[in-house]
Amino acid sequence: MTDFKKIRTRIFLSNLLAFAIVITGFAGAVRFVFVRNLRQQLTERLTALGQGAAAGAELEEGELDLEAEFQERELLERRQALQVFDLRGHLLEQQGEDTTTLPFDSELTVQIQSQAPPVQAVTLPIFDSDNRQLIGYLRVSQSLKQFERTIRQLDYGFGFGALVALLLGCTGSTWLNRQVMQPIEESIKRLKQFTADASHELRSPLMVISTNTEVALTYPQGMRTSDEEKFQAIASATNQMSQLTEDLLLLARTDNIADFERKRLDLSVLLADLVHLYRVQARAKQIELKTEIASNLELIGDEAKLTRVFTNLIQNALQYTLEGGNIEIFANRHGRELRVTVTDTGIGIEREYLDKIFERLWRGDRSRSYVRAGSGLGLAIARAIVQNHGGVITVTSQIGVGSCFQVCLPATHTSVNST
Ligand SMILES: Nc1ncnc2c1ncn2[C@@H]1O[C@H](COP(=O)(O)OP(=O)(O)O)[C@@H](O)[C@H]1O
Ligand SMILES: [Mg+2]
Repeated sequence: MTDFKKIRTRIFLSNLLAFAIVITGFAGAVRFVFVRNLRQQLTERLTALGQGAAAGAELEEGELDLEAEFQERELLERRQALQVFDLRGHLLEQQGEDTTTLPFDSELTVQIQSQAPPVQAVTLPIFDSDNRQLIGYLRVSQSLKQFERTIRQLDYGFGFGALVALLLGCTGSTWLNRQVMQPIEESIKRLKQFTADASHELRSPLMVISTNTEVALTYPQGMRTSDEEKFQAIASATNQMSQLTEDLLLLARTDNIADFERKRLDLSVLLADLVHLYRVQARAKQIELKTEIASNLELIGDEAKLTRVFTNLIQNALQYTLEGGNIEIFANRHGRELRVTVTDTGIGIEREYLDKIFERLWRGDRSRSYVRAGSGLGLAIARAIVQNHGGVITVTSQIGVGSCFQVCLPATHTSVNST
C-alpha cells in the first residue's frame, strides 16, 4: 500500500499548507487593520492636543506666546512632548518627554521615528489668534513604547492561536483523510482481488482449450489442412491469453509481499544466463548484443521475478530495434546499489509517453506495427517487481536514436567480501 501512503501524505501536506496560508492571511489582515486603527487614534489624540495648545497663540513683541498652560507632569505621565518652532524651523520651546530626534519638517503632518525610542509626532501650524497669520509650528509627539507592547502582545496571541489552530487542523485533516481514503482503498483492494480471482478462474478453461488443441495437433491425420491451420491459430491465441492472465494475476498480486521469495542471489549470473538465451534471437535479427557485466552483484530477492524484469527489458529492446542495430547491457555496483542498463538503438519513445509506458496495458501506437502480440503489461510488471525489491526503474529515450532503461536495486552489504 505504499502508493496509498504517498497519496495520504500528499493530501495531508496540502491540507496543512492550505490551512497555514488561510491562518496567516487571516492573522495578517486583522493585524494590519488593528495597527492602522491604533495609529489613526493616536494621530487624532495628538492633533486634538496640539489644536488645544495652539488655540490662543499670539505674537507678542516678536515673541511667540502660547496661551495654554500645560502640566509638565501630565505630559510626562502620558510620555508626550510639545515643541514650538518658529517659521524657519528653529526650536523655541520644549515641554514634556525629551525623546524625539526627528528633524523638523513643516510639510509632514505625521512623522514616525522608528529607531529606539519609537515616537510618533504630529506637526500643526500656529496661527496668531488676532490676525490669523501663520506665526510658527507646534509639534506634539508621543512615545510608541506602549503601542509597540500592545502590538507585541497581539503577535504573541496570534502566534499561539495559529499554533493551536494548526494542531487542531492537523488532527482534523488526518481524521478526514482516513474517512475519505478508507473506502477508496477498500474498493481498489476489492478490484485487485477481482482481477486476481478472475485471472485465476480463467486459468483452468484456458488450460483445457490449450491441452485439447495440442492433442488435436499431435494427431493431425484425417484432419483437413485448413482445419489444422485453424487449430494452430487457436493454439497461438490460447497461448497469448494464458500469458496475459498470468501477467494480470502477477500484477494483481505484487502488493502481496508474502508472494516474494527473499533469497541471496547473484545478478551477474542471472544476467549472463539471460544474455546467453537471447544471443540466438539477436543474431537472427542481425543485432549486436554487447555486454559488460561486473561479477559478484549480490542482492536479496526473488530470482524468478527478477528474471522476469530483465527478460521484459531485453525482449523489448530486441522487439523495438530494427535489424542491424545494437543492444548494450551494462551491470555494475555503485556503493550500495546495483545498476543495470539496457540500451538499444531502436525506434525510441516519444517524450510525452515516457511516463505512460509503465502503465498497465499501455502500448505505443508505432509499437503495434512492430510487435502484434504484445500486451502492454511487460513494463508494468517490471516496475512492480523492481519496486517490491526496493528499487527503481527509469527510462530515457529519443525518437529514432534509441532507449535506455535503467534498473537500480539495493545490493547486499556483504557482497564484496562474499564469494
Ligand atoms: N526498448 C524500447 N524501445 C521503444 N519502445 C519501447 C521499448 N520498450 C518499451 N517500449 C514502449 O513501451 C510500451 C510498453 O512496453 P511493454 O509494457 O513491454 O508492453 P509491450 O511490449 O507488450 O507492448 C511498448 O508498447 C512500446 O511502445
Ligand atoms: Mg514488452
